Amino acid sequence: MESCHQTRNPFSDTETAAVGVTIEHLSKNFGALVVLKDVSLSVEPGEIFVLMGPSGSGKSVLLKHIVGLELPTSGQVLVGGLDAAAPETRARIRMALVFQAGALFNSLSVYDNLALYPREHRIANEAGIREKVMRALQILSLENTAAKFPSELSGGMRKRVAIARALVQEPQLMLYDEPTSELDPVMSATISEIIATLKDEYHVTSFVVTHDRDLALNIGGRVGILMGGQLVMVAKPAALHNPEDPIIADFLNPKIDLKNPRFKQLET
Ligand SMILES: Nc1ncnc2c1ncn2[C@@H]1O[C@H](COP(=O)(O)OP(=O)(O)OP(=O)(O)O)[C@@H](O)[C@H]1O
Ligand SMILES: [Mg+2]
Repeated sequence: MESCHQTRNPFSDTETAAVGVTIEHLSKNFGALVVLKDVSLSVEPGEIFVLMGPSGSGKSVLLKHIVGLELPTSGQVLVGGLDAAAPETRARIRMALVFQAGALFNSLSVYDNLALYPREHRIANEAGIREKVMRALQILSLENTAAKFPSELSGGMRKRVAIARALVQEPQLMLYDEPTSELDPVMSATISEIIATLKDEYHVTSFVVTHDRDLALNIGGRVGILMGGQLVMVAKPAALHNPEDPIIADFLNPKIDLKNPRFKQLET
């Protein structure tokens, strides 16, 4: 296994090694629908990589390939040097994906949602698990929700529970799908700080899919833009201010023109 920078995870007593992600000529079709077209990208161990792009451009599908939930039509994805599509990779590398819609277990309390993974993997005894779970809830200002069920929470609270649940998994690689959607500005800033802290202090590799420009500008080591299934730009966040390509510029900094609305342009 690829290894670099032995470090401690904030929720773990064990040493962990950050892992990189290598995407090689990845293409994905769903029947006749071509979603990803020859995407190649390397994310270094401990890097924060941000992926932006229009709705439907294939961002979530790309994330699912990294955690092995989708299989490539052609090309491959390596995580820590191992094939992401191979079942044993998930057993060897701790990766946590925060799904766009949270994907919590509705029949379990918030506490039990967080405790599920450490219980199944016997990471600690019940007292140790309680400590980890309550610490993650506290970081995300969720202490008072431990006994509640997902249906009793707001959308933003569910999103934070999903992030807390991922933190408890002591990940070497964290993947986030829209981590700040549905969150207020202060909570969005907290998420930026969590992602940055995991990198700076614990060398966790992060792959963040977002529409949130502020998040990308604040945390991104590099930002990629996926359009129509192709990676059309990879750059430092500063490049987001003034991209040369007019299509990328219009995506990142769209001008609102009340006199000539986009939806009316579409009608013609
Ligand atoms: N399992 C699937 N079967 C068929 N088509 C799929 C499947 N998953 C995704 N798609 C299609 O792939 C395309 C890309 O979807 P994806 O969810 O990756 O978009 P996205 O970039 O994450 O968009 P958004 O910003 O709205 O979340 C869409 O056209 C979607 O309908
Ligand atoms: Mg998506």
